[in-house]
Amino acid sequence: MVACEFQPGLEGIPAAQSQISFVNGQVGKLEYRGVPIEALADNSSFLETAYLLIWGEFPKSDDLDAFQEEITHHRRIKYRIRDMMKCFPESGHPMDALQASAAALGLFYSRRALDDPIYIRRAVVRLLAKIPTMVAAFEHIRKGNDPVRPRDDLSYAANFLYMMNEQEPDPFLAQIFDTCLILHAEHTMNASTFSARVTASTLTDPYAIVASAVGTLAGPLHGGANEEVITMLAEIGSVENVQPFLEEKLATKSKIMGFGHRVYKVKDPRAKILQKLAEQLFDKTGGDPSYEIALALEKAVAEKLGSKGIYPNVDFYSGLVYQKLGIPTDLFTPIFAIARVAGWLAHWREQLETNRIYRPSQVYIGDHSLAYIPPESR
Ligand code: CMC
Repeated sequence: MVACEFQPGLEGIPAAQSQISFVNGQVGKLEYRGVPIEALADNSSFLETAYLLIWGEFPKSDDLDAFQEEITHHRRIKYRIRDMMKCFPESGHPMDALQASAAALGLFYSRRALDDPIYIRRAVVRLLAKIPTMVAAFEHIRKGNDPVRPRDDLSYAANFLYMMNEQEPDPFLAQIFDTCLILHAEHTMNASTFSARVTASTLTDPYAIVASAVGTLAGPLHGGANEEVITMLAEIGSVENVQPFLEEKLATKSKIMGFGHRVYKVKDPRAKILQKLAEQLFDKTGGDPSYEIALALEKAVAEKLGSKGIYPNVDFYSGLVYQKLGIPTDLFTPIFAIARVAGWLAHWREQLETNRIYRPSQVYIGDHSLAYIPPESR
């Protein structure tokens, strides 16, 4: 056994050997299965990318058609899951609703036949198919409306936007949304993926794995940052207020949401693509005053914190894109989850291939051999 020094946040400690994705944080490079993210964003679809991540190779045309068809046919959710969601408080956060609903899928489908490729395939298909339906269903249920049924004739991205708005989306908007899903699908050993792998290592079912990863993604230091960015830009309110806002944050040692990354020390390559997508959207559907504030903030943060390697991360521009697509702010992180299910499932499969249960050590810094003191004497 190799003993090593305690590293807070396990910084720099490899938690797995993986072939799924690669990041070079010094130059801002991200690859899925060896393919640069830029090439996937320009040419692939989310489901093709999900297939690549999960099965390790690009699908042939027929395989992709079959995969898409299977997913389309599993989009519906059981009425008992919808009924369960009706009992959730409407003020509850959609990430909490998603975590509970993902776990509930296990009540219906869990057999834990982890050596059966058919079980694995069906679990992959069900999770990719049903998570978007559950996100959209909660959006309607919390407003007191019935969920919109998925439409089999629409693509993965177009169907989600349709289920949200009960209106067939412009193909351009569906294309932008699909690219956002590609960009969020996987990102090496981030907190939620680590959580997924730890849960997977106990040989539990994939619904429990996704539920635990959703819970981890929800926090503001991880996926939850995208909605905080929109709140922050609204709070800044004007380009003139960027500098005073930043000074105040730095004086109180507060984090600027959407900036900084454990691995990237330059601008996140996904942020660059998302910024272009935001600009394409503004050209087509009109600008957004928050974008000017975002640009000014990016410049001001680079001047103040660039020497520390703090630049925009994936969450900085994604919210502006989602906002323009008409998505409510508290659904930004569930949408991140819809995409990241692909990465979590890829890691589930990889973990199973060479599984050993995660059981790290700790450095005990407490007391020893203390006497028991009865309550009345404490
Ligand atoms: N604003 C201001 N200072 C920052 C920021 C920031 N956003 N991020 C890091 N720093 C500073 C931090 O104060 C520290 O400075 P010093 O060494 O002088 O004390 C230094 O940079 C290192 O920061 P850290 O918190 O130790 O870095 P970390 O690797 O533990 O945390 C992070 C990474 C992403 C949690 C952090 O940068 C952060 O909290 N960012 C804001 C939240 C955010 O945007 N999260 C989304 C992350 S990317 C997508 C995802 O994972 O979902």
